[in-house]
Amino acid sequence: MSTEHHTSEITGWISQARWFAGKGRDWELTSLRRVGELPRPTGEGQTAQPPPELHVVIDLAEVTYATDGEDETDLYQLPLAFYAEPQERISHALIGEWDDEDFGHAFVYDALHDRESMALWLAAFAAPPSPVRGQLEFHRLPGHDLDVEAHSTLFSGEQSNSSVAFGEDSLMKVFRKVTPGVNPDVAIHRVLTEAGSTHVASLYGWLDLVDEDTGTTFQLAMLQQFLRTASDGWDLALASVRNLFAEADLHAEEVGGDFAAEAARLGVALAEVHADLAAHFPVEQRDAADLGHLAGAMEGRLDAALDVVPALAEHRTRLRATYDQLRGLDQVEVQQVHGDLHLGQTLRTVRGWKIVDFEGEPAKPLADRLQPDSVWRDVAGMIRSFDYAPRVVAMTASGDGPEADQRNYRASEWAARNRAAFLEAYTTQRGEELGSSARTLLDAYLADKVVYEAVYEARNRPGWLSIPLAALGETT
Ligand SMILES: Nc1ncnc2c1ncn2[C@@H]1O[C@H](COP(=O)(O)OP(=O)(O)O)[C@@H](O)[C@H]1O
Ligand SMILES: [Mg+2]
Repeated sequence: MSTEHHTSEITGWISQARWFAGKGRDWELTSLRRVGELPRPTGEGQTAQPPPELHVVIDLAEVTYATDGEDETDLYQLPLAFYAEPQERISHALIGEWDDEDFGHAFVYDALHDRESMALWLAAFAAPPSPVRGQLEFHRLPGHDLDVEAHSTLFSGEQSNSSVAFGEDSLMKVFRKVTPGVNPDVAIHRVLTEAGSTHVASLYGWLDLVDEDTGTTFQLAMLQQFLRTASDGWDLALASVRNLFAEADLHAEEVGGDFAAEAARLGVALAEVHADLAAHFPVEQRDAADLGHLAGAMEGRLDAALDVVPALAEHRTRLRATYDQLRGLDQVEVQQVHGDLHLGQTLRTVRGWKIVDFEGEPAKPLADRLQPDSVWRDVAGMIRSFDYAPRVVAMTASGDGPEADQRNYRASEWAARNRAAFLEAYTTQRGEELGSSARTLLDAYLADKVVYEAVYEARNRPGWLSIPLAALGETT
């Protein structure tokens, strides 16, 4: 497929996209491959027919980075809409105008912004065409009748993927950076949906592409229950902290916006999700050698972090001692976990807490993200989030001097209270105390996370570096 004449348009579109992870790096579009065209709905009369001149396709764009003589590539998914005439209503989503090999002269748009295009996706999920090798394969889970009349709305916001809501019925998440193999978000949502978990949005369907040449599968998108009544856990936590700060003379447990009961319910939700995951994915044992390896990896990350954040040096001995404790453990159980858990991955609905985004740690290859890991990694992620929320509010509030000291004190109080409530509920739901080996693992994952945060903040938000550093100052 010839690409020359529109390379610059596509390159320009990718470089400004929110989901593009390579901003600021030196990169080039090295190939663009058409992997499928969305079918037109059959069964005339039942579904509104799309405009006759519209073609919706998925192209995979290969992005190559020049890194120290070694090429590194990523594949990005681009759903594109081709129209013979310009479309005023989506002019903000125009990528360019060019002669396409398949469709001739066309005005090309990001299809996710286009209701007409999205209607084709929804229709394909509603009535999956019989799969043809090498083409797009739409899959459905039984149990829910899709509202095929629903109009699409693209979610705005800082996301690594793109999500499109269909009315109040369903939500399609289009994975932007794709790699061959099973996507844990699809695999885990499927298992938890089939297990009847009440703590996830039910999976309705997913889209696969089986590459004819290599036989590998790419998972391109998933369709799930739209949680209409949901509030973001992070936003709720911030609101609770603001409430506390506004009540100058009260303690965390005395104010109206106290979060501890929510933190406890989150602990129960996480324990239940972990139990379901343990029941349906492999559970394995890690021995002393594995734990030595884990300690070594954490030490390695600390050493690398010291170059970026010299202020970590004064905590080095204690952090190393924390990691070293791992070497004293001889058997640890591991299982499928979330892998990237924080308050921003939780939603509170009228039916309780839901956990979203099981894609795992974005930096890891897909295959590694379905490897069993320790549940304490997830617990540590949430606990760090309980520390971030009040400190972010404290930092952005006005007034310094004694007022700032007071805010910092109350931030610590909020964090400690919610951490305790969360942990207590989590361990109670699991039916076990926080034993010494669990404590050792939790402390190590917490320390490792704080070191990661310090590097991240130093590089991206130097003004926030004080958040992880304060956490290191507090631990004994
Ligand atoms: N089923 C859902 N219903 C409503 N909102 C959702 C649902 N799933 C996710 N969201 C919202 O969309 C945001 C992004 O979703 P997420 O799965 O975390 O995508 P990303 O991989 O881009 O981070 C979430 O933070 C949440 O606020
Ligand atoms: Mg997310």
